[in-house]
Amino acid sequence: MGNITIKTPEDIAGMRIAGRLASEVLDFITPHVKAGISTGELDRLCHDYMVNVQGTTPAPLNYCPPGYTPYPKSICTSVNDVVCHGIPGDKVLKTGDVVNLDITVIKDGYHGDTSRMFYVGEPSILAKRLGDITYECMWLGISKIRPGAHLGDIGYVIQQHAEKAGFSVVREFCGHGIGKVFHEEPQVLHYGRPGTLEQLVPGMIFTVEPMINAGRREIREMGDGWTIKTRDRSLSAQWEHTVLVTETGFEVLTVSAGSPPPPAFIQERQAGAPAGVA
Ligand code: MF3
Ligand code: CO
Ligand code: CO
Repeated sequence: MGNITIKTPEDIAGMRIAGRLASEVLDFITPHVKAGISTGELDRLCHDYMVNVQGTTPAPLNYCPPGYTPYPKSICTSVNDVVCHGIPGDKVLKTGDVVNLDITVIKDGYHGDTSRMFYVGEPSILAKRLGDITYECMWLGISKIRPGAHLGDIGYVIQQHAEKAGFSVVREFCGHGIGKVFHEEPQVLHYGRPGTLEQLVPGMIFTVEPMINAGRREIREMGDGWTIKTRDRSLSAQWEHTVLVTETGFEVLTVSAGSPPPPAFIQERQAGAPAGVA
């Protein structure tokens, strides 16, 4: 490794803006996530908001990592047993569905990447618990971020919390460094052992985005070249933030007026510190 970029103050200022804008797309789309709307319509609404209101570029559109075909839409919509990278289309949301909306915008060359879970109508007890545990996993991981901590510290707490709840951690996809490049070093695994892997340094920026399955961790790829589902067809959930390593801890960059607050136990651990700061 050793290829992790340290962001300059100018980069950090740009990443704060991009992060807020990505989160504001989620705020914008929230009232539209209801039974009867199609995932394609959610994509169209977000695309128009990004391009025409924000003046941002949707990073997913035509994104083409090595070995992939160009991604055809502007957001990812992952419903029920879809783990990640669900392509928006004709699928109509119905009561009881759970859906992750993953937004990545580019503003002035900088990327902001964030996702949230949404429930269509009243969720099942399992869906609610899976969403809650996954949110706690993300925040437990984030709470480990400070100079000198290891990436393995993040993966460890996420894996512990998910598995203690009887759920499993997807291994094939991970968080990632981000900045002027959508996906860069380091890889941020959502499983692992404390004290292993790279040590964090102020100025690093990366995502924490655990994908947690209600059943087994194995996945399968759909024929469209992008969509990933659970192999056992169990529900899957994901939450994502883009986070800066600060001198004293962390700063979550993908925050906006509509961001859900951190879980209560995270706030307790941060007593005395301003919101989002360790
Ligand atoms: N936003 C996803 C992530 O968190 C990546 C999506 S790539 C796409 O890394 F092409 F599918 F959009
Ligand atoms: Co990401
Ligand atoms: Co994302």
